[in-house]
This record gives sequence, structure tokens and C-alpha cells, in this order.
Amino acid sequence: MAKNLQELIQKLRKIFQDNQINVDEVQELMESYKSNPQDWTKYAMFDQHRYTRNLVDEGNGKFNLIILCWGEGQGSSIHDHSDSHCFMKMLQGELKETLFDWPKEEGGDMTERSHRMLKHNSVAYINDKIGLHRVENVSHTEGSVSLHLYSPPFQTCKVFDQRTSHTAEAKMTFWSKYGERTPFETTASKENN
Ligand code: SIN
Repeated sequence: MAKNLQELIQKLRKIFQDNQINVDEVQELMESYKSNPQDWTKYAMFDQHRYTRNLVDEGNGKFNLIILCWGEGQGSSIHDHSDSHCFMKMLQGELKETLFDWPKEEGGDMTERSHRMLKHNSVAYINDKIGLHRVENVSHTEGSVSLHLYSPPFQTCKVFDQRTSHTAEAKMTFWSKYGERTPFETTASKENN
């Protein structure tokens, strides 16, 4: 049980000291933390054009803990998770998660398998064996905030065009780190949205 975000981070660091992790244990711990905006407001920076990725903790090199801020109508591309675990906890609002199968070949539509709404305080889990997903804030009135844990951390992922299944590589960038806005990058990069 984690009473606040700091305690959650301490407990996650402990769990991830082991090389083998238990997905249910991490999911339960993240669920036990009840979102309190006072804990995370300093990381929650929105941008009017796209969702933002805000680094909270590097988990002693074992994981990245990131707060994602999704303005109304903002969403990710369809993407994979570079062979990492992805846990996603809702801190504010809701997100729509749409699951897709890996494309068998390029040239046709991606196959949508299912979709669901992720509710306040719930924790979703995905990895590449489960499939690909797109995450979107479909609300017209409320921004959403989610807490993501990726282990091991990764710097790039694959993104997919829904109509053609065409694949490209996207760089994972941070809008802020530890509550401080990241300096503007001059190198052009393709991002995951
Ligand atoms: C996700 O994979 O859960 C969201 C996309 C991202 O990390 O940028």
C-alpha cells in the first residue's frame, strides 16, 4: 500500500531491485496509491498542441516513471513498447485505450481488437506480446493525467499508420524532467503523437 507518490516511488524502487518482476504485484501497488493532485501537480505540464511526457523518476536505472498530460482530444500514435513492461495509472480524468494486433504485412488497415475507457485510479498493463495500443483523451472538456511506468526504460519505439500499417521509429522525449521544463531540442525528431 502506498500512501503518497513518494512512498509509491520508494516501494517501486524496492520491487524493481529484483530482475524478475511480478506484474500483478506492481499493478496492485500502483492501484493502492489514490491519486492526490498535491503529489503530482508540479510534474503535470500541458501543451496545447500535443500530449506531454514528464519524467518523475528513473527508478535507479530499472524503470522510468513518467506523468503524461493529455489535453482535450490529444492522443498517441499506435505504438509498441520496445519489449518493455508498460503500466499506466489514471491520476485525473479518463483515457481511451484501443488495442491493435501486430500487422502481418504492410499495405492494409491495422486490425483493432478492442477498446476500453481507463477510469480514475485504475491501472492498465500492456507489453509487446499482448499487442499494440493507441491512447487518447476523448473528452472535450477535461484534461487527463496518467502515470506510466516503463521497465526497462526505452528511448525509441515503433509507431504504426492505422490505414497502411506502415512502421516508423519514434524518439521518446521529455517535456520536463523532475518538474523542470526540458531545454528545447534543435534536432528534428519524430515523436509518438
Ligand atoms: C503509452 O505507451 O502508454 C503512452 C505513450 C507514451 O509513453 O508516450
